Formats: sequence, C-alpha cells, structure tokens
Amino acid sequence: MTAPVRVRPATVVILDFGSQVSQLIARRAREANVYSELLPYDASWDEIARREPAAIVLSGGPESTFGDDALDCDPRVYDSGVPLLGICYGMQIMTKRFGGRLARLGRSEFGPAELVVDRPESPLFLGVPRESRVWMSHGDSVESVPPGFTSLAHTATSQAAAMSDDGRTLYATLFHPEVVHTEAGSAILENFLHTIAGIAPAWRMDSWVDDAIETIRAQVGDANVLCALSGGVDSAVAATLVSRAIGKQLTCIYVDTGLMRKNESAGVLAAFRDVLHLNVAHVDAAERFVERLAGVEDPEEKRIRIGHEFIAIFEEEAKTIPGVRFLVQGTLYPDVIESKTPGSKAGHKIKSHHNVGGLPERMALALVEPLRALFKDEVREVGRVLGLPNAIVERQPFPGPGLAVRIIGDVTRERLDTVREADFIVTSEIDAAIGEGRLSPRPWQYFAVLTPVRSVGVMGDGRTYGNLVGVRAITSEDGMTADWARLPHELLERISARIVNEVRGVNRVAYDITSKPPATVEWE
Ligand code: XMP
Repeated sequence: MTAPVRVRPATVVILDFGSQVSQLIARRAREANVYSELLPYDASWDEIARREPAAIVLSGGPESTFGDDALDCDPRVYDSGVPLLGICYGMQIMTKRFGGRLARLGRSEFGPAELVVDRPESPLFLGVPRESRVWMSHGDSVESVPPGFTSLAHTATSQAAAMSDDGRTLYATLFHPEVVHTEAGSAILENFLHTIAGIAPAWRMDSWVDDAIETIRAQVGDANVLCALSGGVDSAVAATLVSRAIGKQLTCIYVDTGLMRKNESAGVLAAFRDVLHLNVAHVDAAERFVERLAGVEDPEEKRIRIGHEFIAIFEEEAKTIPGVRFLVQGTLYPDVIESKTPGSKAGHKIKSHHNVGGLPERMALALVEPLRALFKDEVREVGRVLGLPNAIVERQPFPGPGLAVRIIGDVTRERLDTVREADFIVTSEIDAAIGEGRLSPRPWQYFAVLTPVRSVGVMGDGRTYGNLVGVRAITSEDGMTADWARLPHELLERISARIVNEVRGVNRVAYDITSKPPATVEWE
C-alpha cells in the first residue's frame, strides 16, 4: 500500500522582525487563501529554503535600521530571486541593503496618513484607488530609493511610501497593509501574493486543521491529555481538535461552577458529549463556589477565589486520571501578544482573568496550544470546519468567573437566580429581535447585571422596595473598545417590562449608555 502523498502548498514565508502585527500578515495570507509560515527574522536561508517559499515578506519591527547592529535577515534572502515584500522596517532594511538612503524622521509618524499612488500601473497597486488611507508606524523614512528601484507612492511626510524593482520582484511599503486601518491593505497584499508571486488562492482552513492534527499527534505521542472546558468557543475548538488527533487519550473536565447562565451547563454538556463525542467528566461544584464566595463583595477577590477553587477542583479530578503529561489550552494569538506586551500588564491588573493559570507548573504538565497563531474569528472558522454547533461557535464572550462578576456585591444562591432570570429575558428578547429581523446588526454582547441599589416602586396597590437591574448591550470588534448598542425603544420597553414583572425582587431597570473606554464592558 502506498502512503497518501501530501502536496506541499505554495508557501509565503514571513520573517518576523518583532512587530506587534506580524501575525496579522499571516492572517491576511490565510484570508487570501495562501499558506504562510512565520519564522524569526534571523532564520537561516537553509531553514527558509526548506519551505520552498513562493514569496517572502519582511515584517515591521520596533527597532531602527541605523547602526551596524540593526536586525537583518540572512543576506541570501535578498539574492534568492524569490519575490520579496518589505513592510515598514522591512522596507527600511531593504533600502539599506540595496544602497538607498534612509533618514531619521526626527519624530515618529504614527497613525493614519493619506497615501497617493504615483504609479497606478504597478502590479502592487492594481485596483487600488489613487488616494486612500493607510496606517503608518515608523521612526525612519526612505529619503531616496536604492538604484534600480522606483518610488510608487507618497504621503505628506514620506516621499517614498512604497517602492519596487519589478525586474527583481522586490517590493516594499512603508505603511502596514496588514492592518484594517489601511483601506486597500488586503488588495495590496493579494496583489503581491497572487499577481506578483503567482500563488494561486488554493489553500483552505481545512488544510490548517489537517496540519494542526498532525502536529498535535507528533507532540503528544501516546501520553494522556487533559482539557478544561469552559463552554467558550476557544476551549471547545481546542478540545475538539485534540480529540480528532488523539481520540480517547483526551479527557475533558467541565467544572460546573453554578455561575453559568440559564440552561447553559446542560446545553454545553450535551453538545460536547452527544454532538462532538468528547470524553467529558462533569463536576458539579455549585455548592463549593457559593460557599467560597459568601460575604465577598470585592470583584477582584471574587475572581481570585473562583480561580483558586477552580484549580483545586481541576487538580483533584486530574489526579484520578493516570499517565497525564499534557494540558490543552485554547490560547489565541491576542493572548500571546497581551502577555508579551509590557503596556498591557496594567490592563491585566484591572481585572485578573480566570483560567487554569499556575496549573501546568504545579502538576508538571506541558501545554498543547493548537490555536496560538489564530485570531478569534479564525477560531470560529476552524470550529465550523470541525462541525461544532452554532450555539458554541457563535457564543458570546462570557467571563470565566461567570455571573459572580455580574452581581455587584454579595453572591448568594438567591441573587444568582435573580440575575440568571433577568439575563435570560435580555438574551431571549434580543435573540428573538435578531431572528425576526427587528435588530441589525447583532450586538456583540448583551446581558443583565444585578446591582445592590434598591429603590421604592409601586406595584398593584402596594409599595415595593426592590433591586435595580442594569442591562448592557454593546457593539464591538474585539471587546477592547466598545460602544453601547442603539437598541430600538420598543425592544428596551419589552425587556424592562418583562424583567420587573417576571423577576422577583426587581422593580427598576436601567440601560447602560456608556462606551468603553471610559467604562469597561462588564460592571464590576
Ligand atoms: P471588560 O469588562 O474588561 O471586558 O471591558 C472585555 C471583554 O472580556 C470579557 N471578560 C472576560 N473574558 N475571562 C474571559 O474569558 C474573564 O475573566 C473575563 N472578564 C471579562 C467581557 O465579557 C468582555 O467581552
């Protein structure tokens, strides 16, 4: 029997000079149906050549090209004849390498700029408007392009904002085509990959899945593997992928904290067991969590206690499974960046996020993180390729500490029921409005919050003294910034009327009309 032959897809190699957005180049390549691999900037030519690249991209980076020790790639990259695209730092280092002149700007150009294309006939700018908005982030600029190169475009501060030597298939842009703020960015990258490098748009996410499965098998061998399922899309996709790779060697643990939304745990478990056929241990720990939270009002303290309890339970369960050497985590690329960036550390302190942090070291487990290079919407796409149900793939973000952070003040069984019922009304009314075409676009996230504020009301002929429920619905791209959703008044009216009529102890509803920043998404 002959083994199936796997044809290597045409590959673009991205050399990473350390820009925050290097993975975005890989992402745009995937969107353009081109297979890519991200390598460190100083990968040897042999390492690069092994991938038989059909194109190479030099990414941006935070350093300056001035000085003898400026970061550079293996010089054979420049002489290889493989079509090359330098972005930002990549353009500067190409300028230096090929004998052009660089200048320090004096001040960095950062943010949006108006790009004027001077050579619309260039294949790099096919179908790109003469003027469009681009995103700049650089401290050095190109004063004169190297011999043999032509300047293709300019901005107010950069006379050479893009350049090429068509004969040698060398291209470069000073701006970042990979970020969404560059209006024609995707078109420019597609021009480079498809038209200039001649790579057919043949790669699909299915191939990513096949590769990921092979990589997991190679990493894990015959060891046993654990995964903590949260009900969220990331851990569900990661677990399903690992289960496809190693089947019964994977045990998933679902710790039911009792802090989930109405009907959520049952739905999540049914999906994992019956649809995805994962091997899931269900731990009902609602009692333990409510006990640990008794009397705790400080949100940070709630998060810490929930985190500790979660780890303790997970550890107890894990000990019952023999031969475990790995732990699956649904880490995504934005998490990787966040943990690398000093500036975001403060952000972490604002709210400590809940995961199985610390566990791998304590239990001496190695990590399996198959989604490390992907962005959220790509994870959803992988989920769809794997056949995950919509309820999981499209699930709204939900804080790890669950409803505990949507109750301001003390968490009790009764208050959990109150917020759960109010939340159920908010979500079912908004879902119905979306389903019936009364609300478009779909808000990114929507939920109810229980506050400790009490006020006087009147119901029937009697006086009430009840709680205030906050309703939050936001539009957002990624949760980092958000605006409040302009819900139709009739919808707000229905939500409010149902909450005060159907949820015991609530006599007032407020709609949150604050954006993030300055507020956050959650109230805590
Ligand atoms: P904030 O409140 O910080 O929330 O503006 C931003 C987004 O993150 C979600 N969130 C969490 N997600 N674990 C998570 O996985 C958490 O501990 C957590 N806390 C907040 C929040 O729902 C919003 O979408």
